[in-house]
Amino acid sequence: MLPESLFYGPTYAMIHRDVSYPKALDPKKTWDWVNQWIPPGVNWLRLNYPPNCLRKVVVAAKLRQDHLLGIAHHYDVSNDFYRLFLDKKFMFYTCADFLTGRETLEEAQTNKANHLLSLIQPRAGERILDLGCGWGAMMRHIVEQTGDRENIVGYTLSREQVKYIQENLGLRVEFKNFITCDYPRHGFDKIYSIGSWEHVRDADLDSTMGKLYDALAPGGRLVHHFFTYPTDRIPTSLIAAQVFFPGSLPPSHISQVRAFERAGFRIVARSMHDYRPTLRAWYDNLSANAAEAVQLVGVPTFNRYLVFFAASWRFFDEGDASLIRYVLEKK
Ligand SMILES: C[S@@+](CC[C@H](N)C(=O)[O-])C[C@H]1O[C@@H](n2cnc3c(N)ncnc32)[C@H](O)[C@@H]1O
Repeated sequence: MLPESLFYGPTYAMIHRDVSYPKALDPKKTWDWVNQWIPPGVNWLRLNYPPNCLRKVVVAAKLRQDHLLGIAHHYDVSNDFYRLFLDKKFMFYTCADFLTGRETLEEAQTNKANHLLSLIQPRAGERILDLGCGWGAMMRHIVEQTGDRENIVGYTLSREQVKYIQENLGLRVEFKNFITCDYPRHGFDKIYSIGSWEHVRDADLDSTMGKLYDALAPGGRLVHHFFTYPTDRIPTSLIAAQVFFPGSLPPSHISQVRAFERAGFRIVARSMHDYRPTLRAWYDNLSANAAEAVQLVGVPTFNRYLVFFAASWRFFDEGDASLIRYVLEKK
């Protein structure tokens, strides 16, 4: 652990060590371990090492990894494995809205889907694009409302997800990189992303926002749901996130807002949401299905997801990042 602690910081080294444990981790002990109280001096080191000025340099090598391989590493695990912990209704892999705290995961994901519907305001006949469509959850919800299957399309970089959508939903989906691809000018009335904008690095932010602006028809609407951190001080926990999402590092909130406005968008609305209950629900579902999960994907992958949900809970609990929804309009 020492060389990794010195180079990437203790948060990365600890998480890397936990996910590399040779046996299936015990869910109760893992949650308590990852979310334990840490003495102030050690905690200071955890949150502040490596120093901010070095963090971009430290992650640069990891970011040179192919973005595409990083996506495959996370999403092309096994659709049956994801079924073990995601909600049964939609298979959303993004923050749900637990409005009362007493909902099931399915009800909370329905709340989120309805909130996003009110932001996207889809109508039959409108050309709609889902950036990073996952297992097609939101596309399906929109089609249920509009009845229009023809004019909605999703892009994803996961071959497993393409297969799932084609076989189970029969909706239009393309294996396409929404950062590097070309878009038809004024080709869409509505574009939205739910939990995929985090994969857009700082260096690609302006060019991608510019392309989305051109892709929207005049008066078109862009809805983004993503997590970010407040300023250019990258939290050390995001260096550790390279274990889970190699090759992805989201820009700060302030960079996002500047990029939205530079592209020409008007910010119509934004709201903040609590990711923690969703992470806990996925953790509990995975724990309850631990034996089947290990059988499906093996010990290293099971451990990686168990630690991912517990560590992400701490990440949001400590205020390292916030989940935000933005509605942007093309002027
Ligand atoms: C956390 S999942 C969210 C999926 C879905 N939107 C949902 O709410 O369940 C992130 C999605 O973004 C996709 N993604 C990430 N980067 C992408 C890129 N550059 N181009 C296309 N899809 C991308 C992944 O393949 C995955 O489908």
